[in-house]
Amino acid sequence: MIEINQLYKSFGKLNVLHGVDLTLCDGEILTVFGKSGVGKTVLIKAIIGLIEPDSGSISIDGVDVTNFSEKQFNEKVRPHISFVFQDGALWDSMTVGANIELALHAQDHISEAERRSRIQESLRLVDLSGAEDVYPDELSGGMLKRAAIARAIATRPRYLLYDEPTTGLDPILTNVIYDLIMHLNQKLGTTSLIISHDISGMEKISNRVSLLHDGKVVLTCDTEDMWEQDNEIFNEFLNGKAYSHEE
Ligand SMILES: Nc1ncnc2c1ncn2[C@@H]1O[C@H](COP(=O)(O)OP(=O)(O)OP(=O)(O)O)[C@@H](O)[C@H]1O
Ligand SMILES: [Mg+2]
Repeated sequence: MIEINQLYKSFGKLNVLHGVDLTLCDGEILTVFGKSGVGKTVLIKAIIGLIEPDSGSISIDGVDVTNFSEKQFNEKVRPHISFVFQDGALWDSMTVGANIELALHAQDHISEAERRSRIQESLRLVDLSGAEDVYPDELSGGMLKRAAIARAIATRPRYLLYDEPTTGLDPILTNVIYDLIMHLNQKLGTTSLIISHDISGMEKISNRVSLLHDGKVVLTCDTEDMWEQDNEIFNEFLNGKAYSHEE
């Protein structure tokens, strides 16, 4: 379980997170919605220690990691939590296999043979068997997303954090990625946090949804109850009105 309590983060005068409370329960798929620029990426970067919060706390499986050093994040947090970046972020100069191997580097307890089999298994799970020797710029957008997911699951993390996993993909590929996220949760027993704008897609795959607005989580509910909430901001977001006067 990941518990975030009263998290604050500003950049200069820009108050991005302003008292965020959020709990990610074991085994679930939780989606965080929110307008562009509201701080969704900042929030998940804070969980893995890429951004240092100003105050508040983050605890992972009961351990408060808020003041962990870089070394502690590397040793105790990042092996268990994988992050699929918004842009995929594979190294173009390395093959897909080498990119995945890099993610396994921190895990020095695994043998060379195990490393090879983890790479193959991860690529198989995302339906990219045999893509080990291919370079990222030879892949399509959908394949790149899947390769990024393969890299994320190679470490067999307890938690997967996806930052807009389907942005820029066509509807068919989007569904492929959604099926994959659900399949991985079931098959690997991972817990997933997804950042997304896609309300109908997330309605299909999430157990719960949250809305980040104005620096806070204004509401979290079971997905099946999301159309019956008594919260104006949440309802405006779901009905697409949140964007009407700004974008
Ligand atoms: N390292 C940083 N330094 C300064 N400002 C930052 C930094 N990271 C993020 N911000 C600012 O924080 C705000 C929130 O950014 P963030 O990337 O979390 O938005 P987002 O909700 O993920 O948006 P999108 O949906 O467009 O990805 C933005 O105004 C952004 O410019
Ligand atoms: Mg973002």
